[in-house]
Amino acid sequence: MSYPRTRLRRLRQSTSIRRMVRETRLTVDSLVYPLFVDARATEPQPIDSMPGQFRWPVDRIVTPVRDAAGLGIPAVVLFGLPGHKDPGGSGAYDRDGIVQQALRRIKDAAPEVVTIADTCLDEYTDHGHCGVIRDGVVDNDATLEILSRIAVSQAAAGADVVAPSDMMDGRVGAIRRTLDESGFDQVPIMSYAAKFASAYYGPFREAADCAPQFGDRRTYQMDPGNAREALREVRLDIEEGADIVMVKPALAYLDVVRQVRDAFDTPVAAYNVSGEYAMVKAASRCGWIDERAVVLETLTAIARAGAGLILTYHALDAARWLQEGAGAESLVATGWDRP
Ligand code: PBG
Repeated sequence: MSYPRTRLRRLRQSTSIRRMVRETRLTVDSLVYPLFVDARATEPQPIDSMPGQFRWPVDRIVTPVRDAAGLGIPAVVLFGLPGHKDPGGSGAYDRDGIVQQALRRIKDAAPEVVTIADTCLDEYTDHGHCGVIRDGVVDNDATLEILSRIAVSQAAAGADVVAPSDMMDGRVGAIRRTLDESGFDQVPIMSYAAKFASAYYGPFREAADCAPQFGDRRTYQMDPGNAREALREVRLDIEEGADIVMVKPALAYLDVVRQVRDAFDTPVAAYNVSGEYAMVKAASRCGWIDERAVVLETLTAIARAGAGLILTYHALDAARWLQEGAGAESLVATGWDRP
């Protein structure tokens, strides 16, 4: 049946009717707020390329966590900037490492908030790679032992979830085994399963001071052209024990999010990364876009593509806007629209 009997505009005539037939609802339950905790900071340090985001001193980290919790955001993901870096990234698994300290404080002050610890080496190594270097290359298998140590130290400090973001082969299995042997069989793994070698991580590398000092990450992060390989990565991570799988970045990879959602039953997360955030902030500052509308549209699109969890620096703003009743558009009924 087609025009003139079928008229799709019939169901678009008012805010209320659009609400009734909307397929995707963005809710605060999906949001995860990323936070940087900095061993050297004494005050919150604004991050230039990520307006509104800060590197937090550990004794103030509870402030943004409480802000998130107060808005109903269920989870935060923590990245650490250690006091010192070395070739083996020892600060990442130190009992008193910066993320471990932050985890203890957060679990003390806001135990209901789900704490996700980024399990990786790049912020802790002096060369800035996500693994240890042997003969000039990132040594996969030697890195697995270190990642497992990191995960256990994070779980011991109170991480509710560990999130390996390194892209070494076999790391989910290695971490699962070590967590289980150490009494942490209840700690889920959210793996950055399909993590692409992306220029959109630029602002994060400034924020976390983790740009590689030589070479780049293309021998372990994925080639942007590959979607079938992303499905292989996800399948392997699930077989190795991943509880949640992530696609990263989000926006340039929404097709991958959709394919992963369709192919597997595991919860899917997408990371709306630093470069995606920076572009929206920059255009908004220039007065070129309506930030609130763009952010809500973007996050709705990530959900529509199939992500149940969305890691985003917009989390606080988005939660506030959703609270004000501004989903994809205002929930305040305005009657039948004229145009
Ligand atoms: C690695 C890591 C990175 C991001 C999250 N975890 C950077 C990288 O792989 O270079 C990027 C996040 C973002 O851009 O927001 N520990």
